[in-house]
Amino acid sequence: MQLGQYPAPTHTLAHLSDPHLLDGGVRQYGVVDTEARLRRALERLRHLDPVPQALVFTGDLADLGDPAAYTRLRELVEPVAADLVGPDGCAAEVVWVMGNHDERAAYSRTLYGAESTRPQDRVHDVAGLRVVALDTSVPGYHHGELDEDQLSWLADVLATPAEHGTLLALHHPPVPVPALPAAALIELADQHLLAEVIAGTDVRGILGGHLHFTTFSTFAGVPVSVASASCYTSDPAPVGRFISGVDGNQAFTLVHVYDDRIVQTVVPLPEAPEVTGYGHDAAEQLAALSREERRELLSRKDSPFNAVWEDHTSPR
Ligand SMILES: [Fe+2]
Ligand SMILES: [Fe+2]
Repeated sequence: MQLGQYPAPTHTLAHLSDPHLLDGGVRQYGVVDTEARLRRALERLRHLDPVPQALVFTGDLADLGDPAAYTRLRELVEPVAADLVGPDGCAAEVVWVMGNHDERAAYSRTLYGAESTRPQDRVHDVAGLRVVALDTSVPGYHHGELDEDQLSWLADVLATPAEHGTLLALHHPPVPVPALPAAALIELADQHLLAEVIAGTDVRGILGGHLHFTTFSTFAGVPVSVASASCYTSDPAPVGRFISGVDGNQAFTLVHVYDDRIVQTVVPLPEAPEVTGYGHDAAEQLAALSREERRELLSRKDSPFNAVWEDHTSPR
């Protein structure tokens, strides 16, 4: 249903990050139930309209990189992805990305059935939108790097434009982090090398994680969106603390792709009580009206609709 000037997006993706799953029910920092938090995110995914065509997880999938955590991750995510069937009959594609907490051998074996300790770079085709999973991890370290072979491989991939362009999905986002200065200690090194590779290509967006809060920027003229975590989050405005991780404010980000732009929307995970709203039957009624009738009903301040909507004397 098109109510305004814009048609529906060409693609819808859900961008999740940093689930940090732990094996055996261990709680992160003794508090955060990372599996429960991920379940909450997945539950929200089930109710999205349009249905996401891809679930992009930008790294730190397993907190300690153990195989059992990856197995559990698949058990939790894959049934949801299989149920997310779009109008084209295709289920949602799952795009995994390596993070600094992940271990390549376990990641490769458990998620892809391949024995490898090489960088885990992969190309996904999401209905003509190319999503490149780039492995910025460095074995044994928390900062990020892309080696010469990876950059050369990426340049080769990008040499041929994709029908709807390309999104890069990586863990260490190539952006300054003024709200969390300590993040610079474990940032992606030598970012200019990546900038040189993507200059002039069809890369339309970069999706990152690692920071555990939502932030946006640009890199080499390309929009960058960093999704928050589903586990603990970093408080971007801590009081009297240099770094503060909290059990709250978890979120993922919706990515709606249009022919000429991308719209990102943060979806909070914590429960919040509804205080006003309408059901889907209202949408059906609106669809039956003309454009002028809809304006009179929704925009005119003294319309019957707004008389109810703006009545704050009692909950509905
Ligand atoms: Fe993380
Ligand atoms: Fe990380």
